[in-house]
Amino acid sequence: MGGHGLACRFATLDILAADPPDGPFHFVFDRGCFHLFDEPDERARFAAALAPRGLWLSLIGSTEGPPREVGPPRRSAREVALAVEPALEIIELRSSEFRDHGALAWFCLARRRTMPAQSSYGVVASD
Ligand SMILES: C[S@@+](CC[C@H](N)C(=O)[O-])C[C@H]1O[C@@H](n2cnc3c(N)ncnc32)[C@H](O)[C@@H]1O
Repeated sequence: MGGHGLACRFATLDILAADPPDGPFHFVFDRGCFHLFDEPDERARFAAALAPRGLWLSLIGSTEGPPREVGPPRRSAREVALAVEPALEIIELRSSEFRDHGALAWFCLARRRTMPAQSSYGVVASD
């Protein structure tokens, strides 16, 4: 692909299927699908489609920008982080947009974890 000698195969899949056929994948691109789901077990399916250290790139409707009556569901950056952090290490989370209609989006690039994130409270000193 692109002269880099990479083999690339495209597949569409039901992200909620128990075992996506031909998976797990090294890269999953999701435009406007993750933000449809509220349940933790449904959101976890996105990570389940990935091989260990596989990359997930998602465009997710954003709570930023002016009020609107139509367009993609809106998710805050906090919601995105809370939803994906248990299974995925966030590499990049930044503001973007859906190019065709201009609604603001979160661009989220994340990698499937091979170990859990460490505690944010650090080491407790003993006296
Ligand atoms: C808001 S539309 C986004 C469509 C398109 N990707 C775009 O960006 O314009 C949400 C899409 O999620 C798809 N979808 C819903 N449930 C899905 C599932 N379980 N697995 C895969 N795609 C799903 C729908 O078919 C629909 O095309």
